[in-house]
Amino acid sequence: MFSWFKRKRESLAPIERIRTEDFTKTTELYHYFTNLTGIHFDQKESITTPKLIRFAQGQGCNSFGELMEKLRSDSSVREALINLLTVNETYFFREKGQLDFLAHHSCMVSTPLRILCAPGSSGEEAYSIAIILAESDFPLSHVQIVSIDINTEATNRARAGVYTNRALHRLPAPLKERYFVAEGTSYRVDETIKKVVDFRSCNIFEAEFLELGFFDTIFSRNMLIYFDLPTIEKAVNQLKKAARNDQTLFFFGHADLLTTPSGLESRVEEGIKYYTLKK
Ligand SMILES: C[S@@+](CC[C@H](N)C(=O)[O-])C[C@H]1O[C@@H](n2cnc3c(N)ncnc32)[C@H](O)[C@@H]1O
Repeated sequence: MFSWFKRKRESLAPIERIRTEDFTKTTELYHYFTNLTGIHFDQKESITTPKLIRFAQGQGCNSFGELMEKLRSDSSVREALINLLTVNETYFFREKGQLDFLAHHSCMVSTPLRILCAPGSSGEEAYSIAIILAESDFPLSHVQIVSIDINTEATNRARAGVYTNRALHRLPAPLKERYFVAEGTSYRVDETIKKVVDFRSCNIFEAEFLELGFFDTIFSRNMLIYFDLPTIEKAVNQLKKAARNDQTLFFFGHADLLTTPSGLESRVEEGIKYYTLKK
């Protein structure tokens, strides 16, 4: 680098330096991330692009082109970007009507029950299901819940099973007492609940998802809202492959689907909407 240019560059304040670097070509980067995860940013690009610039600089990259090269060649950089850009908002007993419905429905079946949470974020959904089944005297020894998420930090938090009051705000106090152990200002999920859930870092679009086996109930709540319509169809196709049979129940978040995806049929019972495979 010419010495006058180097001096000039070094004397610039950080925000001016951004302008001398090439962080303009965002299209390829967004396209790459959407292809990887399914997540679309649409109108949120103006909030996300500054995050991407900071991320690229943190990785020592001077352009999005350089960042793309790193993302393609280094899985730990891909993982860090996914952890940065995925929205992991969740809490115990979210959309509880569906969980009560499952518990009620499960009391009528005697076979072992395999339940999938795809995605499960930091574990609140899977643990809520286990708690509600325990409360309805369903033998937990007959239950296996597999909870997957593409965000590895969320998955690690799920495995740790330690939560603040914010995550527990919908849980009635007696259940908090019964299923959690206080640790300072936090609460640790009791072992009886923890051992029912298997947490995995997994992308729903990757082949590893199809190795999880077959499930009697599939929850996929509040992930499809980040996908466009063709990607929703693609994700639902993956979920359909995980269904044990045409009795498998599918639950989605209330804002996830505008229409019934192909290959599924919707039902409403006790005010709760769920789906099964089309016969
Ligand atoms: C808003 S959270 C929903 C969590 C929970 N199901 C709920 O309703 O509270 C959405 C989760 O989807 C995960 N996610 C996004 N794309 C994914 C993908 N392709 N495969 C697996 N998980 C994904 C994100 O990491 C995030 O934790």
